[in-house]
Amino acid sequence: MQDPHIKRVLISEQEIHSKLKEAAKQIDAEYAGKNPLLVSILKGSFVFLSDFCRALTIPCEISFMCTKCYFNGTTPLGEPEMIMDLDCDIKGRDVIIVEDIVDSGLTLNEITAHLKKRQPNSLKVITLLDKPSRRQVPFSADVSLFTIENYFVIGYGLDCAERYRNLPYIAEYQE
Ligand code: IMP
Ligand code: MG
Repeated sequence: MQDPHIKRVLISEQEIHSKLKEAAKQIDAEYAGKNPLLVSILKGSFVFLSDFCRALTIPCEISFMCTKCYFNGTTPLGEPEMIMDLDCDIKGRDVIIVEDIVDSGLTLNEITAHLKKRQPNSLKVITLLDKPSRRQVPFSADVSLFTIENYFVIGYGLDCAERYRNLPYIAEYQE
């Protein structure tokens, strides 16, 4: 039986992969001759990162940071907390932050400010999803694959109470 919390598929597997290929082409061209460091913000971006890094043809390195946002169901409770920092120095590196979704903007606002202090050569943000209507602080990603309305979404790495990350598509969550 279909899970009643999966209201509808918002973005299909095929749509994700074709947008992802386009974005990878753009990054390939922009970083030709460089060796960027992809910084995946866990946990939500792990699926996007794994497909995205395999769509790139330029050499790159991968590292992880983990932030945690507490939710009461689909309602965020306060500010994100940093759980795990990078395992490498980013001074002089071309850093590309890979994120699942920009919602309030608080997470990336904080992470980018934090990483800039470490003097990377460049710092860009690529996000799978963007919910601009929810911003609490001004923030815009350099590359955003899909802009969505104010839906709580699950799948392709995104969770609700740690479930649904393994759905191969992005769906609207039904409370
Ligand atoms: P922020 O509000 O921009 O700081 O986003 C914080 C984090 O909340 C994101 O990185 C996601 O992991 C999570 N988040 C925000 N919106 C959604 C959603 O619709 N579904 C699942 N997770 C979300
Ligand atoms: Mg996230």
